[in-house]
Amino acid sequence: MNLSELIAKMRVIFGDNKVDVDEVRRAMESYKSNPADWRHFAQFDPNKYTRNLVDTGNGKYNLMLLCWGPSMASAIHDHTDAHCFVKILDGALVETKYEWPKGDGEKLQVKERTIYDTDGVSYMSDTLGLHRMENTSHTQGAVSLHLYIPPYTTCNAFDERTGHKTACTVTFYTKYGCKVDYNKSKEGTCSGQELKEITTSFCYATPSPSDSDTDSEPMSEAVSTV
Ligand SMILES: [Fe+2]
Repeated sequence: MNLSELIAKMRVIFGDNKVDVDEVRRAMESYKSNPADWRHFAQFDPNKYTRNLVDTGNGKYNLMLLCWGPSMASAIHDHTDAHCFVKILDGALVETKYEWPKGDGEKLQVKERTIYDTDGVSYMSDTLGLHRMENTSHTQGAVSLHLYIPPYTTCNAFDERTGHKTACTVTFYTKYGCKVDYNKSKEGTCSGQELKEITTSFCYATPSPSDSDTDSEPMSEAVSTV
Protein backbone atom coordinates (compact mmCIF):
# COMPACT_ATOMS: atom_id res chain seq x y z
CA MET A 1 0.00 0.00 0.00
CA ASN A 2 1.31 3.46 -0.88
CA LEU A 3 0.26 6.78 0.66
CA SER A 4 -2.38 7.45 -2.02
CA GLU A 5 -3.91 4.07 -1.27
CA LEU A 6 -3.86 4.83 2.46
CA ILE A 7 -5.68 8.11 1.78
CA ALA A 8 -8.26 6.26 -0.33
CA LYS A 9 -8.68 3.70 2.47
CA MET A 10 -9.21 6.48 5.03
CA ARG A 11 -11.96 7.96 2.90
CA VAL A 12 -13.71 4.58 2.89
CA ILE A 13 -13.22 4.06 6.65
CA PHE A 14 -14.71 7.49 7.34
CA GLY A 15 -17.57 7.02 4.89
CA ASP A 16 -19.88 6.95 7.92
CA ASN A 17 -19.63 9.01 11.09
CA LYS A 18 -18.34 6.32 13.46
CA VAL A 19 -14.67 6.22 14.44
CA ASP A 20 -13.29 2.74 15.03
CA VAL A 21 -9.96 3.53 16.70
CA ASP A 22 -8.56 0.02 16.15
CA GLU A 23 -9.47 -0.02 12.47
CA VAL A 24 -7.83 3.38 11.87
CA ARG A 25 -4.74 2.30 13.81
CA ARG A 26 -4.45 -0.89 11.73
CA ALA A 27 -4.71 1.13 8.52
CA MET A 28 -2.02 3.56 9.68
CA GLU A 29 0.21 0.64 10.71
CA SER A 30 -0.29 -1.24 7.45
CA TYR A 31 1.27 1.59 5.45
CA LYS A 32 5.08 1.31 5.43
CA SER A 33 6.78 4.65 5.03
CA ASN A 34 8.23 5.33 1.58
CA PRO A 35 9.76 8.81 1.12
CA ALA A 36 8.87 8.73 -2.59
CA ASP A 37 5.19 8.89 -1.50
CA TRP A 38 5.43 11.93 0.75
CA ARG A 39 8.61 13.84 -0.09
CA HIS A 40 6.72 16.56 -1.97
CA PHE A 41 4.66 17.34 1.16
CA ALA A 42 7.64 17.42 3.52
CA GLN A 43 8.59 21.09 3.63
CA PHE A 44 10.81 22.13 6.53
CA ASP A 45 11.34 25.53 8.11
CA PRO A 46 14.67 26.11 9.87
CA ASN A 47 13.02 27.92 12.81
CA LYS A 48 9.93 25.87 13.68
CA TYR A 49 8.25 22.60 12.92
CA THR A 50 5.75 22.78 10.05
CA ARG A 51 2.27 21.43 9.36
CA ASN A 52 1.64 20.43 5.77
CA LEU A 53 -1.94 19.58 4.85
CA VAL A 54 -2.36 16.45 2.72
CA ASP A 55 -6.09 15.66 2.75
CA THR A 56 -9.29 16.88 4.42
CA GLY A 57 -11.31 13.68 3.91
CA ASN A 58 -14.47 15.43 2.69
CA GLY A 59 -14.51 17.48 5.88
CA LYS A 60 -14.37 14.41 8.17
CA TYR A 61 -10.70 14.69 9.15
CA ASN A 62 -7.39 16.39 8.50
CA LEU A 63 -4.38 14.38 7.34
CA MET A 64 -1.09 16.26 7.46
CA LEU A 65 2.67 15.84 7.48
CA LEU A 66 4.66 17.48 10.23
CA CYS A 67 8.33 18.23 9.64
CA TRP A 68 10.55 18.56 12.68
CA GLY A 69 14.03 19.98 12.61
CA PRO A 70 16.58 18.75 15.17
CA SER A 71 15.50 19.40 18.80
CA MET A 72 12.08 20.85 17.84
CA ALA A 73 9.10 20.16 20.09
CA SER A 74 5.42 21.04 20.33
CA ALA A 75 3.83 22.81 23.27
CA ILE A 76 1.95 20.62 25.76
CA HIS A 77 -1.58 20.64 24.34
CA ASP A 78 -5.06 19.15 24.30
CA HIS A 79 -6.99 17.95 21.23
CA THR A 80 -10.36 19.73 21.42
CA ASP A 81 -12.33 16.45 21.49
CA ALA A 82 -10.58 15.16 18.34
CA HIS A 83 -9.04 11.72 17.91
CA CYS A 84 -5.34 12.05 17.04
CA PHE A 85 -3.20 9.40 15.32
CA VAL A 86 0.48 9.94 14.59
CA LYS A 87 2.62 7.71 12.37
CA ILE A 88 6.34 8.30 12.14
CA LEU A 89 7.50 8.50 8.51
CA ASP A 90 11.15 9.33 9.13
CA GLY A 91 13.35 9.60 12.21
CA ALA A 92 11.80 9.26 15.67
CA LEU A 93 9.59 11.31 18.03
CA VAL A 94 9.19 11.16 21.78
CA GLU A 95 5.69 11.56 23.18
CA THR A 96 5.28 12.70 26.79
CA LYS A 97 1.75 12.31 28.17
CA TYR A 98 0.56 14.47 31.10
CA GLU A 99 -2.41 14.39 33.44
CA TRP A 100 -4.92 17.20 33.02
CA PRO A 101 -4.08 20.04 35.44
CA LYS A 102 -5.66 19.54 38.86
CA GLY A 103 -5.71 23.25 39.66
CA ASP A 104 -4.25 26.48 38.38
CA GLY A 105 -0.68 27.01 39.57
CA GLU A 106 0.25 23.32 39.90
CA LYS A 107 2.99 21.64 37.89
CA LEU A 108 1.70 19.18 35.29
CA GLN A 109 2.25 15.52 36.20
CA VAL A 110 3.93 13.25 33.64
CA LYS A 111 2.00 10.00 32.97
CA GLU A 112 4.33 8.30 30.52
CA ARG A 113 7.04 8.88 27.95
CA THR A 114 7.25 6.79 24.79
CA ILE A 115 9.68 6.73 21.87
CA TYR A 116 8.16 6.11 18.44
CA ASP A 117 10.53 5.07 15.65
CA THR A 118 9.86 5.08 11.92
CA ASP A 119 6.52 3.35 11.12
CA GLY A 120 5.42 3.47 14.77
CA VAL A 121 1.83 4.69 15.39
CA SER A 122 0.51 6.53 18.46
CA TYR A 123 -3.04 7.43 19.45
CA MET A 124 -4.13 10.34 21.62
CA SER A 125 -7.39 11.98 22.73
CA ASP A 126 -8.55 14.26 25.53
CA THR A 127 -9.66 11.23 27.58
CA LEU A 128 -5.97 10.21 27.82
CA GLY A 129 -4.79 13.64 29.01
CA LEU A 130 -2.39 16.09 27.38
CA HIS A 131 0.80 15.50 25.46
CA ARG A 132 3.93 16.97 23.95
CA MET A 133 5.72 15.58 20.87
CA GLU A 134 9.40 16.23 20.33
CA ASN A 135 12.29 15.35 18.07
CA THR A 136 15.02 14.72 20.62
CA SER A 137 17.73 14.24 17.99
CA HIS A 138 20.19 17.12 17.90
CA THR A 139 21.29 16.27 14.37
CA GLN A 140 18.47 14.52 12.47
CA GLY A 141 15.10 15.82 11.29
CA ALA A 142 11.87 13.85 11.62
CA VAL A 143 8.67 13.59 9.59
CA SER A 144 5.33 12.38 10.95
CA LEU A 145 1.87 11.77 9.49
CA HIS A 146 -0.99 13.11 11.66
CA LEU A 147 -4.66 12.28 11.40
CA TYR A 148 -7.21 14.38 13.34
CA ILE A 149 -10.86 13.36 13.47
CA PRO A 150 -12.75 15.67 13.23
CA PRO A 151 -10.39 18.32 11.84
CA TYR A 152 -9.62 20.89 14.49
CA THR A 153 -8.64 24.52 14.12
CA THR A 154 -8.16 25.56 17.74
CA CYS A 155 -6.76 23.94 20.87
CA ASN A 156 -5.15 24.84 24.18
CA ALA A 157 -1.46 24.91 25.08
CA PHE A 158 -0.44 24.37 28.72
CA ASP A 159 2.44 25.70 30.78
CA GLU A 160 4.24 22.70 32.31
CA ARG A 161 5.12 24.55 35.52
CA THR A 162 1.73 26.12 36.29
CA GLY A 163 -0.88 24.26 34.20
CA HIS A 164 -1.99 27.64 32.88
CA LYS A 165 -3.64 27.28 29.46
CA THR A 166 -3.53 29.48 26.37
CA ALA A 167 -5.84 29.16 23.35
CA CYS A 168 -4.04 28.66 20.06
CA THR A 169 -4.89 28.42 16.39
CA VAL A 170 -3.88 25.53 14.12
CA THR A 171 -2.42 26.83 10.85
CA PHE A 172 -0.56 25.25 7.94
CA TYR A 173 2.84 25.91 6.42
CA THR A 174 1.71 24.32 3.16
CA LYS A 175 -1.56 22.93 1.83
CA TYR A 176 -1.34 20.23 -0.86
CA GLY A 177 2.30 21.15 -1.39
CA CYS A 178 1.68 24.91 -1.74
CA LYS A 179 3.16 27.47 0.65
CA VAL A 180 0.25 29.16 2.44
CA ASP A 181 -0.13 32.94 2.54
CA TYR A 182 -2.48 33.92 5.38
CA ASN A 183 -2.24 37.66 4.71
CA LYS A 184 -5.12 37.77 2.25
CA SER A 185 -7.63 35.32 3.73
CA LYS A 186 -8.35 33.17 6.76
CA GLU A 187 -8.17 29.96 4.69
CA GLY A 188 -4.89 31.02 3.13
CA THR A 189 -3.97 31.51 -0.50
CA CYS A 190 -1.36 30.08 -2.88
CA SER A 191 -0.31 32.26 -5.80
CA GLY A 192 -3.50 34.26 -5.27
CA GLN A 193 -5.85 31.23 -5.32
CA GLU A 194 -8.08 30.29 -2.43
CA LEU A 195 -6.50 27.10 -1.07
CA LYS A 196 -9.82 25.58 -0.05
CA GLU A 197 -10.51 25.13 -3.78
CA ILE A 198 -7.27 23.30 -4.51
CA THR A 199 -7.30 19.52 -4.76
CA THR A 200 -4.49 17.13 -3.96
CA SER A 201 -3.63 16.94 -7.67
CA PHE A 202 -2.89 20.64 -7.98
CA CYS A 203 0.35 21.85 -6.53
CA TYR A 204 3.23 19.56 -5.76
CA ALA A 205 5.96 22.03 -6.60
CA THR A 206 8.53 22.96 -3.99
CA PRO A 207 8.31 26.72 -3.33
CA SER A 208 10.93 28.82 -5.08
CA PRO A 209 13.63 30.40 -2.88
CA SER A 210 11.84 33.76 -3.15
CA ASP A 211 8.66 32.17 -1.70
CA SER A 212 10.57 30.73 1.25
CA ASP A 213 12.08 34.10 1.99
CA THR A 214 8.69 35.71 2.55
CA ASP A 215 7.35 33.61 5.37
CA SER A 216 3.88 34.88 6.13
CA GLU A 217 2.77 32.72 9.03
CA PRO A 218 0.21 34.56 11.17
CA MET A 219 1.06 35.79 14.63
CA SER A 220 -1.51 33.39 16.08
CA GLU A 221 1.12 30.70 15.43
CA ALA A 222 3.04 31.99 18.43
CA VAL A 223 2.07 28.85 20.38
CA SER A 224 2.62 25.68 18.40
CA THR A 225 0.85 22.40 18.96
CA VAL A 226 0.24 19.14 17.19
FE1 LIG B 1 -1.17 16.26 19.69
